[in-house]
Formats: sequence, structure tokens, C-alpha cells
Amino acid sequence: MRRLYSILIAMMLLAPAHPPRAAADDAVNPDADFKAFRDYFTKTFAKVPLDDFVNGPYSMDAELRKQWQAIDDFPPYDFAVERGKEMFATPFKNGKTYGDCFANKGIGIRQNYPYFDDNSGEIITLELALNRCREANGEAPYSYVKDEMASLTAYMAFTSRGKLFDIKIPNDPRARAAYENGKRYFYTRRGQLNFSCASCHVQNPGNHIRTEVLAPALGIVAGMPIYRSEWNGMGTMSRRLVTCNSQTRAVPLTPQDEDYRDVEYYLTFMANGLPVSGPAARP
Ligand code: HEC
Repeated sequence: MRRLYSILIAMMLLAPAHPPRAAADDAVNPDADFKAFRDYFTKTFAKVPLDDFVNGPYSMDAELRKQWQAIDDFPPYDFAVERGKEMFATPFKNGKTYGDCFANKGIGIRQNYPYFDDNSGEIITLELALNRCREANGEAPYSYVKDEMASLTAYMAFTSRGKLFDIKIPNDPRARAAYENGKRYFYTRRGQLNFSCASCHVQNPGNHIRTEVLAPALGIVAGMPIYRSEWNGMGTMSRRLVTCNSQTRAVPLTPQDEDYRDVEYYLTFMANGLPVSGPAARP
């Protein structure tokens, strides 16, 4: 393990440091960020078709892609989709359902999450919206890192497959601040290893860390939730963020902490125009 991390650190030091940021400018400019971010990935990985970035590590590694094509005939997340569908249709004790909490009864809407809520001034992720829906209907919230939440989001993602991410950053100072905070969180180094999210997902996509191939930050949210053979089950977005923080030996935040929601907002905005690919499976 120690050796692995020394290799990784060496890799980081050698990696050319051109973070995909827009030209220095104090003003928050999501559109300029978007362009710089997209240009970085499409230039660095010029052979990867744009829509393929949503397939995470498979877009980076031909060998892994073959294994994926073999398992995708019997996708290991099918069980979660089926379970989520059933849960979604089952009324709460008060007779209402999840569908009553969402636009279009919750079908085909995953591409619009997370969004900025102008009532509360905060970012609402799909996971948070599901638990708020439960609480508003007198039900206890689910754990953000366990199977129930993974099943519900797997089903919702499944009904949205192929729809294009369409995250809005309204011209509201609170929305801009949330975006900026998410971006800051993404590029800030932390943990004993002093890595930022970008150290792995911007500077090293396609490189190996242990047996895993690092996914590119472009489209990195598109496949959530994800079945991982290593986990022997499904993982929510929350579970992934906690795991990624632990991998740098940083103390993870509480799931759905504001910083986590903001970084998801930032990354999903960067995925605008790319298709939802979740739920997905990883080795
Ligand atoms: C030490 C390297 C490392 C750092 C730092 C790191 N991650 Fe990861 N991340 C991984 C690995 C390994 C995986 C699993 C393989 C993969 O899909 O990239 C992963 C997967 C992910 C995925 C799922 C991608 C997919 O398609 O399977 C997301 C989303 C993600 N990371 C977000 C983040 C965010 C946000 C941060 C910063 C808080 C972060 N990561 C920091 C190593 C890292």
C-alpha cells in the first residue's frame, strides 16, 4: 500500500500541471470554466468520443472495456433497479408515493439533479430530495450509503438513461457561491496524502491505483449509483465521495454535507450535455 502511494505521488509530481481552469478572473464564470474543463479533457483524451466519458474508467482502458461488455449482458445492478422500482411504487403509510414529491412523478428527471433551490438557497441532490420526500411524508430517512438509497436512485437513473444533463446555475449570488464552493472543494488538497479530487480525476484518468483505473472528472457523475464488484453491491454518490476522501487518508465529511452537495453540483454542471449512463457497474 505504501509503495503504491509513493508511485502515485511520483506520478502526481511528474504530471504536467495544467488544471482546466478558466483564465484568472475574480468573477464567478461557470460558462468559461465549462469551456476550459471540456477543452482540457477533449484535447488530453482526443481519441475518446465525447459521450463515452460518461463510462468512466471504461472510456480510458480497452482491456477493462472488454470485461465490461462481457458483464453487461447480465448487469449486476438489475436487482437494484427492480427493487427500486418496487419501492418507488409502494405507497408510504399516508398513501402518498415518491412520485408525488417530484416533477413528472419522478420518471426521467435524474439529469436535472442536483439543482439550486431558491427557497432554501441550497443545493438539492437526488439523494437529499428522496430523504426529504420520506420525511415530509412521515417516514424515517434512509442511510445515504446503503442499499435502499442506492436502489431508489438506480431506478430513477435507469428511467433517465440517455437524457442529457441540464444543470442550471441561476443568476442568484447563493447559487453562484455554491458553485464556487464546489469548485474550490474539487481543487483543494487534503488528507495525509495531500491530494485533491483533481489530483486523481483530472491529472491521472486512465492511470491505475491498486487494481482500479481512474475515471476522468468529465462525466464522472453520470453513472451513479454504481455496482462495484469490490463492494459486492451498490454504492450511492454519497458512498463514493466518502470512499474517495478516505483514499487520500482524509477524514470524510458526513454524507450530504454542503461541501459534498456543492462538489456534485460543480461536477454535474461540467457534465451538461452528456447523457445519463447510470446505474453502472465497475470491476
Ligand atoms: C487517491 C485518488 C482519488 C482521489 C483523490 C479521489 N478519488 Fe474519486 N475515485 C478514485 C477511485 C480509485 C475510484 C474508482 C475508480 C474510478 O471509477 O475512478 C474513484 C471513483 C470516483 C467516482 C465514480 C466514478 C465512476 O465512474 O466509477 C466519483 C464520482 C468520484 N470518484 C469523485 C471524486 C471526488 C468528488 C473526489 C474529491 C472529493 C475524488 N473522487 C477524489 C480515486 C480518487
